[in-house]
Amino acid sequence: MALGNPDLKPLASGPAGPAPPQHIAVIMDGNGRWAAARGLPRAAGHRAGAQAVRRTIEAVMEAGVTWLTLYAFSSENWRRPADEVLELTGLLRHYIRQELAELSRQGVRVRVLGDRTRFEPETRAELDRAERATLGNTRMNLNMALSYGARDEIAAAARAAAQAAADGTLDPAALTVEKFERFLSTAGMPDPDLVIRTSGERRLSNFLLWQSAYAELIFLDVLWPDFGQAEFNGALAEFARRERRFGARPA
Ligand code: FPP
Repeated sequence: MALGNPDLKPLASGPAGPAPPQHIAVIMDGNGRWAAARGLPRAAGHRAGAQAVRRTIEAVMEAGVTWLTLYAFSSENWRRPADEVLELTGLLRHYIRQELAELSRQGVRVRVLGDRTRFEPETRAELDRAERATLGNTRMNLNMALSYGARDEIAAAARAAAQAAADGTLDPAALTVEKFERFLSTAGMPDPDLVIRTSGERRLSNFLLWQSAYAELIFLDVLWPDFGQAEFNGALAEFARRERRFGARPA
């Protein structure tokens, strides 16, 4: 486990700008508007969104970024009409079935963040299979945030820490940020350096709230299905212009 590994500490800006991002997280927004603009059903927007997922993984790998987290289904998305939820979960299963062998061949390790117990058994089995099949891969880490909500995640971590205190394995007075992080679903992972949101909305929508404390935020007007290499390069260039201080004064 990478906990305590100094390599995972954020790097502040140097004279040539910030260190390249180690972890990029993406809020993939705008599938519905993309479809509506073309007079297509929302499902067509989600299918086009899945193509953008494929392009993005390739671009991220090509850039040598080793962690990518995609917000594919929020805990609030369950409130969408049943047919859209069915479409999204079906698409997810289809995507994993179709892409798993190639992802694995490319050295991608897949993990799922979020409450997978809310998915039906067939989808859960597919998610478990993807994690198991890619367990030993080390070139790139792909986190899929599914049925994920940051407040749920933090509350679950607080419950687990409270339970550990009640069991006598954790001294409540010694609960530091680092110790608390071990109870999050991202334990041992580097925090995102860059969070990208498409579709012109400028909010985090309950995504990685703890982990994004010092992330650079980039909001793009492009709708998710239109996100590609040019938009990715643009975001990296914008990131490189940012000065990251992590609360410290500039040198
Ligand atoms: C937001 O668009 C997107 C989602 C709710 C789901 C994201 C899903 C995908 C990109 C496709 C499937 C993913 C994988 C990993 C195969 P929206 O529907 O909220 O768009 P809108 O705001 O324009 O209505």
